[in-house]
Amino acid sequence: MIANHLAPFGTSVFAIMSRLAAEHNAVNLSQGFPDFDGPDWIKAAAKAAIDTHSNQYAPLPGIPTLRNAIAKRFTRDTNLPCDPDTQTVVTVGCTEAIAATMLGLLNPGDKVVLIEPFYDCYRACVALAGAHVLPVPLRPVITGNKITSMQLDEAALHAAMAQGPKLILINTPHNPTGKVFTREELTLIATLCIKHNVIAVSDEVYERLLFDGAKHISIATLPAMADRTITLSSMGKTFSLTGWKIGWAIGHPDLIAGVRAAHQFLSFSVATPLQHAAVAALEREPEALAQLLPLLQEHRDLLADCLNKIGLTIHTPRAGYFIYADHTALSCRLGVTDDTALCMALIKNPGVAAIPPSAFYTQPADGHSLIRFAFCKKRQTITEAIRRLHTLA
Ligand SMILES: Cc1ncc(COP(=O)(O)O)c(C=O)c1O
Repeated sequence: MIANHLAPFGTSVFAIMSRLAAEHNAVNLSQGFPDFDGPDWIKAAAKAAIDTHSNQYAPLPGIPTLRNAIAKRFTRDTNLPCDPDTQTVVTVGCTEAIAATMLGLLNPGDKVVLIEPFYDCYRACVALAGAHVLPVPLRPVITGNKITSMQLDEAALHAAMAQGPKLILINTPHNPTGKVFTREELTLIATLCIKHNVIAVSDEVYERLLFDGAKHISIATLPAMADRTITLSSMGKTFSLTGWKIGWAIGHPDLIAGVRAAHQFLSFSVATPLQHAAVAALEREPEALAQLLPLLQEHRDLLADCLNKIGLTIHTPRAGYFIYADHTALSCRLGVTDDTALCMALIKNPGVAAIPPSAFYTQPADGHSLIRFAFCKKRQTITEAIRRLHTLA
């Protein structure tokens, strides 16, 4: 009974792998959510908000105090002005912001440039809007036993942008690779947006989870881009509260009007008490990050070292939750053929779940030699995964 435009997407690979991980009692390094909670003081703010604030519908664009906090934070980060009344909208996580952007701005038959590998909901949201994907690859550059970079295919980008897309959806820092787009790459994208009159949609949910001194740049800050960019983010990753689903979109009033137009019929508004607690969280953001970042970076390093030792060719992420790797050497040794077969084998023995990235490509074969592991887990989980994976060394 599933509608034709959704049928090709089936069940999300995240739901499938998490279910299999539970069935086989595997350590779950597949789906990108922490197996620990965000700070207690934010949870306390949510409990207090249920008692002291309204539990009825919030205003469609979000409660004013949260939109003020989001606008102030954006201005602090980017030096760009942001009017909370016309330039922001609070959504059900970044996921709804992506869907509302596509549904609110695209007409059937429009084209959207996606950089692949991509977060899997992008393609489905483009399809929901009746639009078409123009893919542009990031190609792994392998030097010795490392993926030294995920290189944007500039020729493919030029060609796709010349085909008259309405939007380009970029994601920096990037899931699944942990790449942080450079100023040069963003400048090229911006130049082509201006040349071909394309709107940039920038998913920045990992904007705060940076390692090794990496610097995140919002494409909205590049010359002439502020008025043609919608910047998306959410609370989930920054505060280890992925289940709260508080996200937002920021942009020129004309663009945000489109996002709001779709949001009003998708969800209308977002959980009122959690919006109040989000205000409290954003006021003390550095405190939450001071706890989280050293833990994430340490877990990245421990897992990266182990994955190297078992023969994976890894890309060291400069941000985010994930290690992306080429598994050709390991899968040859284990006698398996592709990413899905390897993930199925690893779930059973040694009992570790990862994500097969073919779902992140328009041509699944482009992801067949790759695999993604999440390290946003508590120490005990990482240590147990490493213990099990070492049996493959
Ligand atoms: C790149 C990217 N965008 C958006 C999301 C979804 O964000 P939210 O949980 O706020 O809906 C995720 C979650 O994994 C993601 O990786």
